Amino acid sequence: MESSLCLRRLCLNLERDCELRTLKVARMGVWDASGRPWLCEGGCGLVEYRRLSHSLRSMTDRLYQICRLLCCPMLKAMIRWCQIEAGQVNTGASVAVEGVLVESKGAKQKVELKATKLTLIGGTDPASFPIQKKKLTREYLRSVAHLRPRTNTFGAVARVRTALAYATHQFFREQGFVWVASPIITASDCEGAGEQFCVTTLIPSSHEDTKTPVSQVPTTKDGLIDWSQDFFGKPAFLTVSGQLNGETYATALCDIYTFGPTFRAENSNTTRHLAEFWMIEPELAFADLKDDMACATAYLQYVVRYVLDNCMEDLEFFNQWVEKGIITRLTNVVEKPFVHVTYTEAVELLQKSKKKFEFPVKWGADLQSEHERYLTEVAFSGNPVIVTDYPKEIKAFYMRQNEDEKTVAAMDILVPRVGELIGGSQREERLEVLERRIEELGLSKESYWWYLDLRRYGSVPHAGFGLGFERLVQFSTGIENIRDVIPFPRTPNSAEF
Ligand code: 4AD
Ligand code: MG
Repeated sequence: MESSLCLRRLCLNLERDCELRTLKVARMGVWDASGRPWLCEGGCGLVEYRRLSHSLRSMTDRLYQICRLLCCPMLKAMIRWCQIEAGQVNTGASVAVEGVLVESKGAKQKVELKATKLTLIGGTDPASFPIQKKKLTREYLRSVAHLRPRTNTFGAVARVRTALAYATHQFFREQGFVWVASPIITASDCEGAGEQFCVTTLIPSSHEDTKTPVSQVPTTKDGLIDWSQDFFGKPAFLTVSGQLNGETYATALCDIYTFGPTFRAENSNTTRHLAEFWMIEPELAFADLKDDMACATAYLQYVVRYVLDNCMEDLEFFNQWVEKGIITRLTNVVEKPFVHVTYTEAVELLQKSKKKFEFPVKWGADLQSEHERYLTEVAFSGNPVIVTDYPKEIKAFYMRQNEDEKTVAAMDILVPRVGELIGGSQREERLEVLERRIEELGLSKESYWWYLDLRRYGSVPHAGFGLGFERLVQFSTGIENIRDVIPFPRTPNSAEF
């Protein structure tokens, strides 16, 4: 048996798995990404491949197990005296490889497959295949988003994204939080910013039906849109946040979190904004802003530690190709305490700095991305910064008013490269104060009737936060543009794929 010491030890560890212990021949399916000929005629050649196909899962289950246990997303195949059955293998082709799994002598991978047989499954036309083995820009890859997961970068991002999602559920489960599915369709605007996508059947409801004349939209006698004829009998929207619904469960079960897609129709063409993104929103009952900050810090450190512990091979890849120093940056997040400043202190700090900002800094104005990044990257040397107590005018209606009546118990967590990663607050639990704020802002008290009920019946101090999942993936991979950390980005003028 050609299996190495390292593999034998591994196999013995898997006590219950006799099949693995006696594994001699492995078969796997892969897509070629080497760009090199697979066969050196009549001799031997080293072939790199990077992916195991799911379609050949039954044949490759054992191998998956080994790769996973060795934390080894990349394998290499050693082709020796093998034959290609049926045709030429070009970049992008799918092949099945059969051979013996051995410990690798090479530094780049832990295991190799000494292949004895290679079968072409699906060929490609090398002239037209869009992902050739050469440096391709991320902009170009966005235009072939259906094929970009076949590149090393997007494969690594997908694995880290999965690890972060898994660690998220694991963290909250360990802490006793209940996962709540907040609705995607809603009639209330949580952030009050009017950046919602409308969900309606009053206008064309299928692709085939896009030529509907405007006159077909039902109107009232006064010439307004007749929402009573719409599917929900009133205007409905895609949610911008699951928080308000989350609060209903927190004020019943204590600690909950939501984790799902959210939508914003803000026309921001930036590297940090998507129209469709995933958000994690914990909500803690019998809790104040300090508890909220502690929970956010523990959560962020937990998921980053999980990636450091479980995705090192991908992080080394990012370190080499995407962001030099990413591993140190992430290790610092896990090991060093987060900095805490108030909004007022942050504004003073920015005003005293010598840096020329594009947007002016003044008390009362929202912090821009350039200000946020200056605070975390320069003023506090790469440490995450928690900024609290923002002016109430720039924050949402539900945040708890501080005693100064000017600021609210809000907190944002700023991190290097991304800026705002987390936005949270203690919620206004005093019925009369909340009602007053809703009126001041010209919002409709009637549409928040159920939210106000939470203050009417057994109100408690509670707090929570929202973390943009794609910004977390950006932060954990070093990828510059948020469009490259979600499989199919939705942004202004872009809903392809
Ligand atoms: O600060 P935001 O708007 O807070 C809320 O929605 C609260 N209801 C959360 C809560 O307290 N439960 O959004 C929270 C986070 C931001 O810090 C940011 O990371 C992310 O969501 N985010 C976006 N991510 C990608 N694209 C966008 N357009 C985003 N808008 C916000
Ligand atoms: Mg925010």
